[in-house]
Amino acid sequence: MATSVFQETVRQFVLSKEQVQKIIDGLTEELVEGLSTTDPKNITQQPSYITRLPTGKETGLYLAIDMGGTNLRTAAVHLLGDGQVGVTMEKHEITHELKTGTGEAMFDWIADCTASLLKNVALDMGNADLHMGVTFSFALHQTAINRGKVLAMGKGFDLSDVMGHDLKDLMEGGFRRKGVPVVVSAIINDTVGTLVSHAYVSPSTKIGVILATGTNAAYIERASDVSKYTGPACDQMILNTEWDAMGKASYLPQTKYDKEIDAVSLVPGFQEFEKMVSGLYMGELVRLTLVDLIERRGILEVLDGKVPESLKDRLVFKTLFMSTIESDSSADHSAIDRVFKTSFDIEGLTSEDRAHIFELIHTVGKRSAVMTAAACAALLQKASGASVNLDNANEITTIGIDGSVFEKYPHFAHKMMEAMTDILGKDRASRVRLELARDGGCIGAALVAMVAQSGGAV
Ligand code: BG6
Ligand code: GLC
Repeated sequence: MATSVFQETVRQFVLSKEQVQKIIDGLTEELVEGLSTTDPKNITQQPSYITRLPTGKETGLYLAIDMGGTNLRTAAVHLLGDGQVGVTMEKHEITHELKTGTGEAMFDWIADCTASLLKNVALDMGNADLHMGVTFSFALHQTAINRGKVLAMGKGFDLSDVMGHDLKDLMEGGFRRKGVPVVVSAIINDTVGTLVSHAYVSPSTKIGVILATGTNAAYIERASDVSKYTGPACDQMILNTEWDAMGKASYLPQTKYDKEIDAVSLVPGFQEFEKMVSGLYMGELVRLTLVDLIERRGILEVLDGKVPESLKDRLVFKTLFMSTIESDSSADHSAIDRVFKTSFDIEGLTSEDRAHIFELIHTVGKRSAVMTAAACAALLQKASGASVNLDNANEITTIGIDGSVFEKYPHFAHKMMEAMTDILGKDRASRVRLELARDGGCIGAALVAMVAQSGGAV
């Protein structure tokens, strides 16, 4: 009985071929719709104003800021040419207080972090202002390479006086209040940073993806296809897809646990795709499923149908626990005992419990990889004929991917590639490379600050 309750529950996370195809078709439709939409609520397919990728030959010294969902990185980036870079980087955790406080407090803190970097790398340009590229891992409506209005912030951010304001003004406001001599020369989304920076080292890169607290992607599109773009003329442009915010009930295979995550989130109905895939939510999906299974006596009989207090709070089951558990190759999954004892004070698991917990975690993780592969397939299809040609046996298309889920979740790249092969077929999939793109944020921001100054932007 317990086993059938468990199997019927976990089965909901296994996607059929038809469900995957529906996701690809649905996302493709939204990628097309985003190019022309004038609906202010549709934040997808944002023009970046960047019209070319770096050549790898660029040189110079730039400051960079990379504001992710979890950390803020500040950096001094030396572009050395030949795809080489020297980076001095400092990392600061963005606390819950900062994420949910005022915009002023956030941008003052960013200015303080920048001042600390300048002090530590002993950067002094006399009276000249330092040029900075900013990577921002939230949706912006850009109106120039260095200007963009903040459209929306998910991932647990709830800042006052930020939405609708221009990021350059917000950042430079903080610098001014704190007396930091920095000018913001470029603003980019983190996916754009990943694409640009990975292209610097791997010129076949045509798509940049983030798989971290959130998920999103950028690619190169024909400017003539972007009918909502009204800026200066150009042939092609990097677009920030904001695929996080795509996903409709008609094609997303949401379980009741996915719906619950959405319903209790800060912004229900926003970022439905991201909530099924990214690092902030995967562990929570496992927790909600476990709680339900415990109550229905489908798992952990030792608890007698009662959910322990330790499992009751939102987000306590971190995606990191999933990685730890999936990394353990012992036959009896002993890492599960350790995680459940140490973090949740739960003991007395049977070997069947451990096998079930492992299967649940593996299935939720695999669904994320398969859905990300489906999204990449939709993007490859959309870019086909413009920047991508998977029918040419001599052409490789590289997807640069950054973020803790892709980097640290066991076998994530392998699971994605398996799904890509199922979707694209062996030949076409063999022309796609999934490569880890590290520190894309800071290097990408510095490169774009340079591109902006040398006319590679409109
Ligand atoms: C970093 C990238 O590795 O990952 C950033 O350099 C990106 O650009 C970040 O925003 C995303 O991670 P997180 O977990 O901070 O959202
Ligand atoms: C969120 C943001 C998006 C960002 C992604 C990855 O989805 O909306 O802009 O790229 O997280 O960090």
